[in-house]
Amino acid sequence: MDDFFKTSAEKTSIPKEYIWPEEDLVLAGEELEEPVVDLQGFFRGDWEATQHAAMLVRASCLKHGFFQVINHGVDSHLINMAHYQAKTFFKLPISEKQKGQQQLGSKWGFSVAHAHRFSTKLPWKEMLTFGFHHEGSNAAVVDFFQSFFGEGIEETGLVFQRYCEGVKKLSLAIMEILGISLGIDKSYFREFFQDGNAIVRANFYPTCPEPGLTLGIGPHSDPTSVTILHQDQVGGLEVFVDNKWKSIRPRHDAFVINLGDTFMALTNGMYKSCLHRATVKKHQERMSLTYFLCPREDKMIKPPQDLFSSREEKPRKYPDFTWFDFLRYTSEHYRADEATLQNFTKWFISFNP
Ligand code: OGA
Ligand code: NI
Repeated sequence: MDDFFKTSAEKTSIPKEYIWPEEDLVLAGEELEEPVVDLQGFFRGDWEATQHAAMLVRASCLKHGFFQVINHGVDSHLINMAHYQAKTFFKLPISEKQKGQQQLGSKWGFSVAHAHRFSTKLPWKEMLTFGFHHEGSNAAVVDFFQSFFGEGIEETGLVFQRYCEGVKKLSLAIMEILGISLGIDKSYFREFFQDGNAIVRANFYPTCPEPGLTLGIGPHSDPTSVTILHQDQVGGLEVFVDNKWKSIRPRHDAFVINLGDTFMALTNGMYKSCLHRATVKKHQERMSLTYFLCPREDKMIKPPQDLFSSREEKPRKYPDFTWFDFLRYTSEHYRADEATLQNFTKWFISFNP
């Protein structure tokens, strides 16, 4: 074909499966002004500092559900080691990584671009995903790495095991602050998630010859409850707020926290789970570590009494459902986007009238 007749997509050097529609590629113009919440006072038991932290969290959750936390209690050396181990893993030859390839129907293992589930709008990334049970064995992560990738990878498993223990503590502290911020018993959500689990993922975004045509992860909201993300200094995480894409400035000393759809349902829609995406770069690769906190699978997702009323002003927005129902919907029937929870609700009610 004459070059003249080729569309811009056909002239590029990336496979067309990775090219996203223009409306998803609109550039971010500014930074999000999310609060940076200092948790030091909370961990010391300082009432006033805790109230202040809760107030900042409340304001951001009513609007978009994104904030950052500093003095979060997770050892910075451990975070660096987790990044180092993940990076070392992604630099292994593809044949080594594929030993632990994610199998059809499984959530766990190494995968590239979700290519086993989808064939268009593929994300420009590699992932390593495993589960972490809050009340599970203290060698479960080590066992995952060994059973998926063999004997040589024990150190990686040990580091991630400790990383998960640390982030679990932070996740429960955040649940306490979310409870306070909602004006309900501070132990309510902490206890709700005490016996929960997490989907833990290292995301590797390789350099891309055409960063303006693709995305590291397309616009989506997280179906899970709360996401605790640590990103390197490259930047690329963006949030859709006030009809604009806004970037989140990387802070080495902070975790980025965002609410997912399940937490939005737990607050009867009061707190927001918000659309976000990750862009990629031509000359810089990027890494992020995500800890997606989830309730135990059979727990009923239902807001506490104070957040709805049978009277007109605060009716229930979503049906009672379990995380198991919602997880199955998002992993078997639906690709997460801005309307996941709404469409799940319709689908769920049609089967459970
Ligand atoms: C995700 C996500 C963003 C990032 O994995 O759900 O939104 O910056 N990641 O890696
Ligand atoms: Ni996300």
